[in-house]
Amino acid sequence: MENFTFWNPTKLIFGKGQLEQLKNEIPNYGHKVLLVYGGGSIKRSGLYNQVLDILKELNCEVFELPGVEPNPRLSTARKGVEICKQEGIELLLAVGGGSVIDCTKLIAAGAKYDGDAWDLVTKKAIATDALPFGTVLTLAATGSEMNSGSVITNWETKEKYGWGSPATFPKFSILDPVHTFTVPKNQTVYGIVDIMSHTIEHYFHLEESTDFQDRMCESLLITIMEAAPKLLADLENYEYRGTVLYCGTMALNGILNMGYRGDWATHNLEHAVSAVYDIPHGGGLAILFPNWMKHNLNVKPERFKQLAVRVFGANPDGKSAEEAGLEGIQKLRDFWNSLGAPSRLADYQIDDSKIDLMADKAMVNGDFGNFKKLNREDTLAIYRSSV
Ligand code: NZQ
Ligand code: ZN
Repeated sequence: MENFTFWNPTKLIFGKGQLEQLKNEIPNYGHKVLLVYGGGSIKRSGLYNQVLDILKELNCEVFELPGVEPNPRLSTARKGVEICKQEGIELLLAVGGGSVIDCTKLIAAGAKYDGDAWDLVTKKAIATDALPFGTVLTLAATGSEMNSGSVITNWETKEKYGWGSPATFPKFSILDPVHTFTVPKNQTVYGIVDIMSHTIEHYFHLEESTDFQDRMCESLLITIMEAAPKLLADLENYEYRGTVLYCGTMALNGILNMGYRGDWATHNLEHAVSAVYDIPHGGGLAILFPNWMKHNLNVKPERFKQLAVRVFGANPDGKSAEEAGLEGIQKLRDFWNSLGAPSRLADYQIDDSKIDLMADKAMVNGDFGNFKKLNREDTLAIYRSSV
């Protein structure tokens, strides 16, 4: 295990009816609030009115930034920064999925930065300060509700990058499984794939003596794989929604990966695909991850075997580590297929015509990945096997 310091200041408020806690949290930060949300799901579900009622009761002055896109765009964040600077916003409240939260993070940091917010995403400047913000999460997937990361797309230049800083942890996040009841089946599946992918990204590292961390990751994967089919058959089941929601937060809030760095190449590969084609993040991961695994099976076959046996129930008897590992990879693919996740880029009408462009995007900072450094040839090979 490497040395580590764990620090996560987000207050996590979980469970039925917890929206009421806004009444305790918001007054800690001010009364001029920018409410950030997406394309309308919170209006259809009634959550928008519930939040507004609470803000009115608190005598807040409310400004709104609606229309944050899935794969949130720089142009929308810039609008939010403008509002914050012009109106003297004191607190931002993100109500939505990972995209709304990620956009809010850039607005919060951009409001405290003199230059263009894109500088913070490209790391031309480091965000050292941000307006305080809270979140009301409506979709289990990214973990953005309890981490400092944010992923932003510059649609004009077709670039999509992750960034973050210690200043961009939410002050509080409210997670009521009921708020996720209306997430449609396909988005529910993308979320589950994303949560599993975060956990598998952690799992592939080169550190030794991570037995406890391994078993935490395995436990999360087993738990969510048990819950997923039950949830898809019963989308308004509080217990299954709650299990998946909690797994989503735990998969990417720093708790699973103390003492080592996971791989994260597949996320980089996927961000390059969605920068060019604007596909759902979880859909892209479902296509790419098993192909990344096959490509890197020989790096440490024992690790793939361990995952295959402990999580996917592969029988290792009479098999080499590679063979057992391959069986696990196939079982992962079969599981995601059984949920209805895509398995080829062709499922999004993507052919091989822009593979070079995607590789350019993925390689923008050179070779990438921590378990195995991928070069351009590796990148192209994984994209080709995913078409
Ligand atoms: O925009 P609205 O109308 O709200 O609809 C959204 C959107 O169309 C809908 N939705 C959300 N909650 C709903 C709902 N529909 C009905 N009922 C509800 N309760 O779902 C659609 C997708 O929402 P989005 O926020 O885009 O999904 P997700 O949470 O998966 O976020 C994806 C973004 O997060 C980034 C991805 O790259 C992508 O840009 N990621 C962020 C990470 C982070 N900050 O740590 C890590 C991840 O790996 C990921 O890269
Ligand atoms: Zn992800």
